[in-house]
Amino acid sequence: MINDLWYKNAVLYCLHVGSFMDTTGDGTGDFRGLMRRLDYLQGLGVTAIWLMPFQPSPMRDDGYDVSDYYNVDPRYGTLGDFVDFTHACDQRGMRVLIDLVVNHTSDQHPWFQSARSSPDSPFRDWYVWSKKKPRDAASGVVFPGVQKSTWNYDEKARLYYFHRFYEFQPDLNTSNPEVQAEILKIMGFWMQLGVSGFRMDAVPFVIAKKGAGITKPVEQYDMLRTFAEFISWRHGSAIVLAEANVLPDTDMDYFGAEGERLQMMFNFQVNQHLFYALATADTQPLIQSLASTRARPATAQWGQFLRNHDELDLGRLKPAQREACFAAFAPDKDMQLYKRGIRRRLAPMLHGDRRRLEMAYSLMLSLPGTPVIRYGDEIAMGDDLSLPERNSCRTPMQWSRDANAGFTTNPHPKNPVITGGTYGYEHVNVADQRRDPDSFMNWMERMIRTRKETPEIGWGDFTVLPSRRDDVLILRYTWQENSVLIIHNFSADPVELRFRSSAKPTAGKKAGKSQSTKQVDTYLTNLLSNDHSQCDANGRHRILLEPYGYRWFRVGGQDDLLHRAAT
Ligand code: NOJ
Repeated sequence: MINDLWYKNAVLYCLHVGSFMDTTGDGTGDFRGLMRRLDYLQGLGVTAIWLMPFQPSPMRDDGYDVSDYYNVDPRYGTLGDFVDFTHACDQRGMRVLIDLVVNHTSDQHPWFQSARSSPDSPFRDWYVWSKKKPRDAASGVVFPGVQKSTWNYDEKARLYYFHRFYEFQPDLNTSNPEVQAEILKIMGFWMQLGVSGFRMDAVPFVIAKKGAGITKPVEQYDMLRTFAEFISWRHGSAIVLAEANVLPDTDMDYFGAEGERLQMMFNFQVNQHLFYALATADTQPLIQSLASTRARPATAQWGQFLRNHDELDLGRLKPAQREACFAAFAPDKDMQLYKRGIRRRLAPMLHGDRRRLEMAYSLMLSLPGTPVIRYGDEIAMGDDLSLPERNSCRTPMQWSRDANAGFTTNPHPKNPVITGGTYGYEHVNVADQRRDPDSFMNWMERMIRTRKETPEIGWGDFTVLPSRRDDVLILRYTWQENSVLIIHNFSADPVELRFRSSAKPTAGKKAGKSQSTKQVDTYLTNLLSNDHSQCDANGRHRILLEPYGYRWFRVGGQDDLLHRAAT
């Protein structure tokens, strides 16, 4: 096994340049501003930044409607600024992933403008056309309630064009070899400018066969292999992190049996059941989703997350489970979106309850995979439900108590800063939390450090230890002769937990090791406090967990708490 797969023990941080830090005073964040905040991100423990789309765009879908793949939108800076940025990240040992949005372009993209203007356009076949409106045009919309159809009539072309998302995002005909070659060119371009890979948007739709006659989804998985081969040829350690909200029985098709297709995918299955568990304290469906997404090639990795820039999509839950989540986290219709999701940030969903926030992040940081943090979550930022659709959770980063949170000197930022109330920048900002040793931000920094010092989670195998209580989850990870035990109490009540750490530890097995198996098994070293655990004569541990309590233990006794590398 190759031990230098950087993404196995990474901490990803996702942000939009336009919402992070403005240096020009125009009310929109820019690359120069982001660069000024790199030391902050490094201090937090972030090892890789995922940048949401920053290419030129009419911005009708927060940049997911690209009109030029080879440039930086002038609002955010120049290509020169971008290279300065990737270089500055490199100097700090941080990697950069960027969004790759190639399922569709903006309807303003010159390719589409040319394609619609003439049947002889070299770009005509780059999009997906139909003479008649297909009968199933109303099905398969991604934004129900907002989007009415997946086919729209174009007056100029006198044809219908296919758009899986909004009507201003015509789908690229990704089966066309010329389009595929262009996608590789785009990847190559940005890799040359210093990125370590891509968060690939809408992957199931990118690889789907598209056209008026297609009624059932047909995936062209080999396209993923072509992408993987290309990027690893250009840049040995580059990866694709796929946005693919798919069912577990296709996971291996996406990763590839030998890991030859995708290095990483977001684990939407676990994400949705995790929120159900947070809502009801019933961990059984979460445990099942962990089991059903367990299989993956050795080189592949899950991206684990709580909230992101979209709605919290609960579409994979059973209706009653979804209703339970709505009741707990989004009781007002206005908090819900697309008939399946929630458009709130995490902190308001958890009523700003510090115990619940800590528990949720401790859990996310310790789920099998690599954690992906959303900007602002480290200070428990809130949302602005007066903004349309998903913009509610895309407000600017709150840096300080200065006007407009120190994000911009412009009195009218492009996206309004959350002002006043519990989550206003006057109460929730980086500057205040930095000075307060007990702040959520300092807690997060410490947890990120602990996560990075616990490579068993990202690299190892996990088992769910049996617990008689459905409201408690006990995960055990083992890697390179080290094991950790991670416990979470999902309930609002204190829990007295008795359990046996029954999994066979690997430490002490090798010839020449003096540690006895018994010693390793019987003692649990607390990684966060001095509250260690010695088992009783029957080999059982007794742990008292507070409401929403959590524990990170390394199996065995060690003074320095750190993972003992075997190699
Ligand atoms: C998924 C992105 O996360 C979302 O924000 C966007 O609207 C769609 N893909 C279309 O690009």
